[in-house]
This record gives sequence, structure tokens and C-alpha cells, in this order.
Amino acid sequence: MEKLRIYGGKPLKGTVSVCGAKNAAICILPATLLIDGTCKIENLPDIIDVRRYIAVLKELGLNVSQETPNEILIENKGIKTTSCSLDLCPKMRASYYLVGALLGRYNSAEVPLPGGCNFGSRPIDQHIKGFEALGAQVTTTQGLIKASTKKLVGTSIYLDVVSVGATINMILASVLAEGTTIIENAAKEPHIVDLANFLNTMGANIKGAGTDTIKIVGVKSLPGNATYSIIPDQIEAGTFMVAAAATGGDVIIKNCIPKHVDSISAKLVEMGITVEELGDSIHVKCDKRPKKVNIKTMPYPGFPTDMHPQMATLLSIANGMSILTESVWDNRFQYVEELKKFGAQIRIEGRSAIIEGVKSLDGAPVICSDLRAGAAMVIAGLASKGVTKISKIEYVDRGYENIEEKLRNLGAKIERIDED
Ligand code: EPU
Repeated sequence: MEKLRIYGGKPLKGTVSVCGAKNAAICILPATLLIDGTCKIENLPDIIDVRRYIAVLKELGLNVSQETPNEILIENKGIKTTSCSLDLCPKMRASYYLVGALLGRYNSAEVPLPGGCNFGSRPIDQHIKGFEALGAQVTTTQGLIKASTKKLVGTSIYLDVVSVGATINMILASVLAEGTTIIENAAKEPHIVDLANFLNTMGANIKGAGTDTIKIVGVKSLPGNATYSIIPDQIEAGTFMVAAAATGGDVIIKNCIPKHVDSISAKLVEMGITVEELGDSIHVKCDKRPKKVNIKTMPYPGFPTDMHPQMATLLSIANGMSILTESVWDNRFQYVEELKKFGAQIRIEGRSAIIEGVKSLDGAPVICSDLRAGAAMVIAGLASKGVTKISKIEYVDRGYENIEEKLRNLGAKIERIDED
């Protein structure tokens, strides 16, 4: 079993480059099913979730060639099936985008119910409501989502909750539908804008992505034959920002869009940490103990829930008591028991973690409970005195490209070991 071993306590110093956004890649890859011709995608992150998605697309019958792990050429000459493999799909949350894409292009989809990180209940009622509003019949039985229609017809869809996944699925399903679709109360995350930009580059007509009203005028086909480069990963950038701060480091994070991490920068500044924007880079420097701060996670442009566990690690060594409230997921606190093993003082009250900052953390053997919890364990290991061993790092590999190499380049002492 692979683990990460970290000899902590060294400030991170130097420059690190951010890769393409995971959550953009895993909706743009299924979107290639909607295209008639070829498309080239650049800045693809080389992570497990992306490799799994590529395997699913190949299995469905798309021609895929990859000269480097970060570039892919996809050609759709017709697919073999609209039923997706049980082996690959249940491991990924984003498998449900195959429903929107297959239904949108082929009027039929059969996809295993999604897997992914466990944050309590993860309903898909808004996805189903949207597909039905567009004219599909949808059932979820025996672990499968089955959707079919004679044709999809554009309509107005009001999402009862701001859902990233439902917004993306509605875009995928309606791009080739007859007439106009309006999505109200849409999510505004940068990867939604990226998906819309990708589809527009391939021939779609989508306006308003990034606002809470998105208008999609159905087109007959997407000719493709274009190249698209995925945006930098907002959460990877944020993770390095927090790692720099937690280790008392001095790091330049290159190839990011500072605007996308505004909410993270604002909280770090409130904690007394230096954050400077330098074009497409961010400089984070921390030379004193950070101050306490209160944070509430919100849909974009609010503070991202996917930065919650990493931020909890930083708050664990801040001066004073911080309150970190989770308002997106029912239960994103599985990391807390692990963080306590480093000596963090945290208690949960309802949807909030009350974090009493301690002066320093001590290395410990810990387990990742999900992707971002894994990132939080890595940051805690880097910031701690002594040795940390992290198990179940396959969660971290789902979403971070070459994490130990990037950290080693910043001076961290971190290695991957094979150990039972
Ligand atoms: N919700 C519903 N009904 C639905 C859909 C969502 O009630 O039909 C609720 C959820 O239970 C949750 C809230 O709406 O309380 C937001 O869920 P959303 O649909 O926005 O989340 P998601 O699309 O399943 C994506 C990311 C997550 C990220 C969330 C929020 C992917 C594959 N996943 O999930 O990313 O936490 O948006 O930003 O894009 C991660 O990268 O670590 C990760 C978990």
C-alpha cells in the first residue's frame, strides 16, 4: 500500500506551477461526446480521475490519442454504446456528466450511479428534474441512472439549490436540444465558464455562464475541429497558498488566475499573511503566527468548500479560536479526527468546526478520508514537527498531479513509500 512519508517542519520556499483544473477537465471530457469532428484539449491534469474518464470515453468508442499526459486529441466517429461500464463509473462522482452528454447527443444514456467523496447525502434530484424538464424519461434503479427521450426541447429550468453538477448537466443536455434553454439559479464556478467556453469554441451558443442565468440556444451540431486549453486549477492553487502559509514559507504560485482565488487570498490577508498578485502568479509569504479568522464555505464566488479541510489545518496553528462553518455539504468533517492526531484542538458544533489554535503540530500516522481531507493531511504533515505517514493517498492522487515532486521542489522532505 502506498503512503506518503513527510519529515515536517521545513518552510516551503520557491516557485510551483499549477496544472489544469480537475473539475473543468472532468466535465469537458464527457462534453467531447457532443462533438462531430475532432478536438484537441491542452492543459489536461494528469490525475487519476482524468485517466479514468479517458478510459470510459475509449470504452464508449471515441478515438483518443495522447502524445503527452497533458494533451489529448479526441475524435468522435460514432460511439459503440450509450451504456457505461460498471467497473469504471462508480468510482467517479463526475460519471453523471455522461448522462447529460449521452442524452444530449444520442437521446439515451445508462450510467451507474456516481461514486466520489463521501460528504453525507449527495442527492441528484436537480439533475433529474432538469432532464425531465427537457423532455427525458429518467429512472434510477439497480444502481443505474437510465434516461431516454425521442428529442430534447429547450425550456426554463430553475435549480432549487445552487448545484455545480446540475448546472453542468443541464448545459450538456441542452446544447443540441431544439430551441432555447434558460438555467436559473445556476452555479457560477470558474469551471462552468470553462465548459461553456469549450463548447462555444466547438460551435455551441451559450451565454451567461458565470452568472446565475445561463442561456443556451440549441444548435444542430458541434463541428469541433478546434483546440482548447483548460483553466488552471483554483483549488490546487489554493492548496499551495495554504501550504505556504502553514509552513511559514515564501512561495510563488505560477500559472493561476488570481481572481479565482480571491476569497482564499482575502482570508489569508485577514490572518496577517502576505498575498501579492503578480499577473498570473500569486506570492504568499508568512513570517509570523497567523491570526484567527472565521470562515463560511459558500458556492463561488464565496469561500470554496473544497478548501475547507486545508484551511482547517492552517486555523489549527493560528493564534486564537476560529470558527469554520460548512454550508455546502452536510458532513465534510471526516478529516477532524485525523487532524486531532497532530495535536489540533477542534470540536464540531452542528455545521461548524470550532478550532482553538495551538502553537505547533506534531507528526502522526494518519489516513485520508477524501481528496481534500488528504490535502489537509499533507499540509499538516509539512507544518508539523517530526514524521508523518499518510495512508489512503489514492484520494490525493485523484486530484493532485505530482504532488510530492512539486512539494520536494519547494524544499519539502516528502516521499512515497510502499508499506503494508
Ligand atoms: N444538491 C442537491 N441536489 C442535487 C445536486 C446537489 O440537493 O441534485 C446539493 C448537494 O447535496 C450539496 C449542494 O447541492 O449540498 C452542492 O452540490 P453540487 O451539486 O454543487 O456538488 P457536485 O457537483 O456534486 C462539485 C465538485 C465538488 C465540490 C462541489 C461544490 C465535481 C466532480 N465535484 O460537486 O468537488 O465540492 O461541486 O463546489 O465537480 C472536490 O473536487 O474535492 C469535490 C468534492
